[in-house]
Amino acid sequence: MTFPVDNPEASDAASDQIVRALAGASSLTVLTGAGVSAASGVPTFRGEEGLWRSHRPERLATPEAFSENPRLVWEWYQWRKERIAACKPNRAHEVIAEWSHRYPAFTLITQNVDGLHERAGTRNVVRFHGSIWEVSCWNGCRSSPARWPDHTVTYAELPPKCPHCGGLVRPGVVWFGEGIASETLELAARALANDVFLTIGTSSVVYPAASLSSAAKARGAFTGEINLEATPVSAQLDASVHGAAEVVLDELSSRCDDSGR
Ligand code: APR
Repeated sequence: MTFPVDNPEASDAASDQIVRALAGASSLTVLTGAGVSAASGVPTFRGEEGLWRSHRPERLATPEAFSENPRLVWEWYQWRKERIAACKPNRAHEVIAEWSHRYPAFTLITQNVDGLHERAGTRNVVRFHGSIWEVSCWNGCRSSPARWPDHTVTYAELPPKCPHCGGLVRPGVVWFGEGIASETLELAARALANDVFLTIGTSSVVYPAASLSSAAKARGAFTGEINLEATPVSAQLDASVHGAAEVVLDELSSRCDDSGR
């Protein structure tokens, strides 16, 4: 059952459904997008703040853009790393982290590369689009691992070089036009069999992440959405709450505590 946007009573009814589903569940999967980190100050991709020097992410987050102008792409990522380094997890991250320890079976599938879920202490995180705090060798040189941690915020030189071969390193994130690693897809697929699947703070327009909620529904999961606005998947889900994740999740958490979940 889903409800029209901006209808408070309807959103309350949808919240009731989610609380009931969570109370009866022994396994939970959560899918998150940039909306969960918005309250921490991390810009989302498709909101008005999603622009960087008038570039859209779709134009910069591609192998073609990197090969054409690695310095420009690294300037964008360095700007994002500097912004994210100043951010802290917000109440939405905290509630999801609490739930990750409360349910015997829990998986977080996040499209976010900012690392805020891990900093909030979330268990079993599947980084569907990689991490801005990892890099890999652009040449894929034999002496370098597939990817490795790099917590540098501001680089001494851009673009940074691979310590193993002297070539370029690239951000450890999945770009448009690149596939999701098979082991990541496998981890996500296994999580679709959980009792409840919540999609939170994502516009649900980028695939294959956007297909996960309907795949979970097809596997019999109760599917809920928490997002500021309606998305293309809202109508297919069992309950859709329109509101800020950091507010709605805080309320759901208190109601779940009251229900003894
Ligand atoms: N609470 C809940 N939802 C919010 C909040 C908030 N505080 N703030 C914004 N939103 C919603 C917006 O309404 C929007 O629907 O979060 C969604 C963010 O959508 P996008 O900016 O498209 O981000 P996301 O869905 O994560 O993008 C998916 O696209 O650019 C690629 O790889 C990138 O992982 C990213 C993917």
